[in-house]
Amino acid sequence: MKDQASSLRELVQEKNEYNGPQAAPPAPPPPPSVVVMPPADDAQTVVPAYKRVFRPTIRTSARVIAITSGKGGVGKTNLTVNLAFAMKKIGRRVMIIDADLGMANVDVVLGTVSKHHLLHLLQPEVTLQDVLIHGPYGINYISGGSAIERAVDFTPQERQCLMDKLTACETMADIVLIDTGAGLGRNVLDFILAADEVVLVTTPEPTALTDAYAVMKAYSKNSEKKDLKIVVNRVYDEEESNEVLMKLQRTSEKFLSMSLTSLGMIYEDRSVMNAVKRQQPILAAYPDAMAARCIEAVAKNILYGGDHEIRLGWKGFLQKLLNFS
Ligand SMILES: Nc1ncnc2c1ncn2[C@@H]1O[C@H](COP(=O)(O)OP(=O)(O)O)[C@@H](O)[C@H]1O
Ligand SMILES: [Mg+2]
Repeated sequence: MKDQASSLRELVQEKNEYNGPQAAPPAPPPPPSVVVMPPADDAQTVVPAYKRVFRPTIRTSARVIAITSGKGGVGKTNLTVNLAFAMKKIGRRVMIIDADLGMANVDVVLGTVSKHHLLHLLQPEVTLQDVLIHGPYGINYISGGSAIERAVDFTPQERQCLMDKLTACETMADIVLIDTGAGLGRNVLDFILAADEVVLVTTPEPTALTDAYAVMKAYSKNSEKKDLKIVVNRVYDEEESNEVLMKLQRTSEKFLSMSLTSLGMIYEDRSVMNAVKRQQPILAAYPDAMAARCIEAVAKNILYGGDHEIRLGWKGFLQKLLNFS
């Protein structure tokens, strides 16, 4: 019987086993202008269709989506910033929390400098508005800043202070994107375990794949939720992306009993590097580039594809992260 290690080796070695590209995933449905749901008692009451009343469901909580990876440098920050750009364009209110602590990544990609970061909130005179950066292209974000401690290491008063000040983010955003660090540090795990949805970014590189698998394993072991979303970045063709996906999915289902949902792939594209050099999101600098179009498709898959129940929402995320029971 194959063990986990041999299956992983296959994951990164068996290049020739693949039998051609899979059918492309179905295109996401067109954006609904409002989400309409039938009334809750619809199933029990027999009402003629022409008399049925539909009530729009208005979401009151923000979707919290953590963007993470096993290996560093696989494209998390570029994806996060460009997803925010794409979602903003579609009309969603998005906020980024730059939680790749010590790196100030979002600042670099947007060409901004943040004076305040998350931990300044611990100072009584600093408000949420002081740390919230209104970046270019309408992208709002909060910098994690350097040398942040693990939230659980704060005193109860400090945690309460962060909770009180950060709760209001919910009224400012429909979607909160958390750009986490890479790997399995407790810091990163805290963020991904508190978020309702987790997007794991990988490239087809063997080292990125084995590190991605390590994150999948840690997530499945520690999370109540058994579902990860995945984006394969820097691929040369669809076949390469399908191959990576298929192998990760097979390994995940077999050894972790966890499903992996693909949000799409992003082509290897020099325009990403050129956009970084210009300190602009690729969607702003080169909107017609292959990678830009792929990221737009990923954004639409996140917004319109599949199920995305808000379980904890923003408040629940903060409670879990800050260790409130
Ligand atoms: N699709 C891509 N095509 C080409 N280069 C890319 C692509 N995605 C990322 N890169 C390169 O990788 C670098 C690191 O990306 P970044 O988003 O900072 O990674 P991470 O946040 O995971 O550390 C970028 O500056 C860019 O040069
Ligand atoms: Mg980064």
